[in-house]
Amino acid sequence: MLSLKKTLISSLFIAKLFAVPVLAADLSAGEQKASSCFGCHGQKGISSISQLPNLAAQQPAYLVNQLKAFKSGNRSNATMESIAKNLEIKDIENISAYFSSQKPAKITTESAAPKSSLDSANMCLGCHGLDAEGKGQFPRLAGQHPDYLEQQLKNFKEGLRKNGPMHAVTVNLNESEIKALAAYFGSL
Ligand code: HEC
Ligand code: HEC
Repeated sequence: MLSLKKTLISSLFIAKLFAVPVLAADLSAGEQKASSCFGCHGQKGISSISQLPNLAAQQPAYLVNQLKAFKSGNRSNATMESIAKNLEIKDIENISAYFSSQKPAKITTESAAPKSSLDSANMCLGCHGLDAEGKGQFPRLAGQHPDYLEQQLKNFKEGLRKNGPMHAVTVNLNESEIKALAAYFGSL
């Protein structure tokens, strides 16, 4: 019994040892493939242009989903559609692993929303996480560029970006509520 336990423990240990190099290989393959993205999204996934999303620390499952959506045309954006079209599924997974492993942006600007906007933000946290860090297919919002967030919220509202739950969430928000939410999440 004792030796079975020992065997189990040591095989778990070995499995862990082997898991590390595999992950590292994926990340470095991902980094190599991601080099064509750096010009717009930043080498470490922090873009210097406020209309272009940060990818750093974004949920890997969400990134995979979005790249597949651009590839199939389910999410429309001319630039990203033509880029994603040329990516294999394996590339998409490796690139997503690379960007999601990068440190999140920490943007502190004076445009941070007044505290009152926290109330309207509370209804977002059930899906986007208590710290807006995202989970699985729910994206991280914390530290994202406010200009980008604002545009996406408008796109969901107008149905230009198709997603049932996000359309329902945004359809009754007015422009200043959208601005306040974008500023608030960007400031986290
Ligand atoms: C020429 C600039 C440009 C390049 C190069 C580029 N992107 Fe993008 N990317 C954009 C723009 C613009 C958007 C926003 C699209 C929208 O508004 O829907 C975007 C959005 C995305 C998103 C969605 C992010 C989110 O939060 O929903 C992902 C993921 C992404 N890009 C990944 C990549 C990857 C991976 C590469 C490289 C293989 C890449 N991009 C190269 C411009 C670029
Ligand atoms: C019922 C769950 C749910 C709620 C509640 C919710 N969201 Fe979302 N949100 C999602 C999902 C799912 C996506 C990904 C959509 C996709 O795959 O295109 C998303 C995407 C987004 C995006 C796009 C992010 C990016 O990187 O492109 C923004 C911005 C966003 N949500 C903001 C909000 C805000 C602000 C609220 C509250 C007012 C909110 N969400 C409430 C589920 C939710």
